Amino acid sequence: MIGIYFSGTGNTRFCVDKFLKYYNKDAVRCSYAIEDKAALTKLKDNKDIVLGYPIYYSDLPIIMKDFIQDNQALFRGKNVFIIVTMGLFSGDGAGCAARLLRKYGANILGGLHLKMPDCIGDVKLLKKPLEENREIVRKADAKIKAAVEAVWQGHYRRDGLGIISHAAGLFGQRLYFYNKTVRLRDKLKIDGEKCVSCGKCATLCPMGNIKMTDSRPTTCGNCTSCYRCISNCPKQAITLIGSTVLEQSTIEKYIDTE
Ligand SMILES: Cc1cc2nc3c(=O)[nH]c(=O)nc-3n(C[C@H](O)[C@H](O)[C@H](O)COP(=O)(O)O)c2cc1C
Repeated sequence: MIGIYFSGTGNTRFCVDKFLKYYNKDAVRCSYAIEDKAALTKLKDNKDIVLGYPIYYSDLPIIMKDFIQDNQALFRGKNVFIIVTMGLFSGDGAGCAARLLRKYGANILGGLHLKMPDCIGDVKLLKKPLEENREIVRKADAKIKAAVEAVWQGHYRRDGLGIISHAAGLFGQRLYFYNKTVRLRDKLKIDGEKCVSCGKCATLCPMGNIKMTDSRPTTCGNCTSCYRCISNCPKQAITLIGSTVLEQSTIEKYIDTE
């Protein structure tokens, strides 16, 4: 089994890696970010896939939706287990990709929903003390381990795949936030006063949305709302939904060193 994932601030990468570590029982790297060129070759060559992504407003990130649609032929006949991370609630997080993938001929093995630290660093809602976030990550780790043990017993969890979850995602959030991430596409703000033109944001952006023009970062209206640039800017100069950076969320802060 291999992993293909998108992860803005590292939560989903952590969860997919953990799942595969428990499942494959070895340390060999077997998960690939969708921005990584190797992801497509690995997707072609493997039948059993763990697909991971964070949930944004009870929906798929734009970059993940595009990846599935652009590579739909590669999913035909694949067995896919879906891992979704979220700050609080996603309803049918796994169902969002499952419906697309079934349409393209994939077989959905199951779904796993994991509560992880909230990554929206410029909005106060859902902010938690560091130790609480660390505890959330420990709990997610335990849930992943239990989910893998269940797989060994022949049982795949089915989080977010039923009709009740579908209604919860749709009526609980998606309708209310309809197309919210599309509307955020051109809303990334870079504070020119704070920015020191280090170029880190441009290097990290998975969408190529930030370009260095005359040594200054400029945006191209193609943001996927992943908060990677916001969480890594050394001057806290970037915001998206809010107007001040309150916290820079990266998984490294929340994991115990092993
Ligand atoms: C634009 C945006 C929208 C989000 N919407 C939701 C949501 O609807 N429900 C939820 O529980 N978490 C939501 N989150 C939180 C993320 O899903 C969560 O922090 C996730 O674990 C981040 O994963 P990553 O580090 O792999 O990017 C949202 C995050 C962002 C950036």
